[in-house]
Amino acid sequence: MARPLDLSATYEAAPNIALVKYWGVRDRDRMVPYNSSISVTLDRFRSRTTVRFDPGRREDRVELNGAVASGGPREAAVRFLDRVRALAGVPFGAEVRSENNFPTASGLASSASGFAALAGAATAALHLRRSARQLSQLARFGSGSASRSVFGGFVEWRAGTKRDGSDCYARPLFGPGHWPSLVDVVLIVRGAPVKAVRSEDAMQATVTTSPAYAQRLAEIPGRIRRMRSAIRERDANLLFPLIMEECDSFREVCETTRPSLDYLTTTSRALLAEVRTLNREADRPVAAYTHDAGAHLHVFTLARDAARVRHRLGRMPGVERTFLLHAGPGGRRVDRRTVPAAPVGT
Ligand code: DP6
Repeated sequence: MARPLDLSATYEAAPNIALVKYWGVRDRDRMVPYNSSISVTLDRFRSRTTVRFDPGRREDRVELNGAVASGGPREAAVRFLDRVRALAGVPFGAEVRSENNFPTASGLASSASGFAALAGAATAALHLRRSARQLSQLARFGSGSASRSVFGGFVEWRAGTKRDGSDCYARPLFGPGHWPSLVDVVLIVRGAPVKAVRSEDAMQATVTTSPAYAQRLAEIPGRIRRMRSAIRERDANLLFPLIMEECDSFREVCETTRPSLDYLTTTSRALLAEVRTLNREADRPVAAYTHDAGAHLHVFTLARDAARVRHRLGRMPGVERTFLLHAGPGGRRVDRRTVPAAPVGT
């Protein structure tokens, strides 16, 4: 008797922090952004997702961190599964189990790692062969930033110029081992508000209402070029000011959006000021802050300064917890060691 086809797979992917932010969608149907972005995929943190398709199942069941998902998070996963089912031409329902090993309750973004892992697990479960580039093109329909978590190390998500979106994909710039002394001090701040507006909607409000958005878009290509070269040369003196310039530009377009988008708390703002003070005192860029659409901060520094920076920022009032992270690996299948761990090709 023929063995029933195994329709399950488990995939892991890590969150990433954007050094040049994706903020604004040019084509919502194809999920093509206005600008290219650059990020670092992080080590230690990861989402692990198992997908099991069942020909006898009609409804999807989605479990996130041990609890059955409902409402928006479930719908987003089901919509994504619909896309994968359409690719495979099957109507099967699925059981999805996804767990994060990092504190999502405190508001650390998990959509990038979650959707990169879901893209990898769902396609592998249905035996769809997808290159990493194709996976990144698929993952962005779950969450734009997920396109970058498919790869490890330093990653660029190219917006592309073609109308059909075929040249819009993420690609690795430098691997996770490229700059081992670059450290990300993650500062979890107390009382971080839960996002009132989804990033997807918030960024479109910025596109249509912020008077600073056009100027930001004009600056990004140059910033990306300079950032690529600073990372290539492992030059913190060049990179750190660029990271902060970009973060300030992102914050400016958020704050000038109508109604205004303010993601930071008093503690986050005090941390930004403390990083500036630290750099002024040392008369060199010791550290660089950045944040996404949330109140927690990522502060980049070099290994030789990491303990001092972590101590100084970590003891500020309102900081709940700190993590020391580095660049880490990209998404990979983890349930079958005999199958190539990374998707074929790029
Ligand atoms: C500010 O596409 O990740 O982090 O899934 O709705 O959170 P959600 O949106 P996502 O937007 C990311 C916005 C950002 C910048 C970035 O990561 O590039």
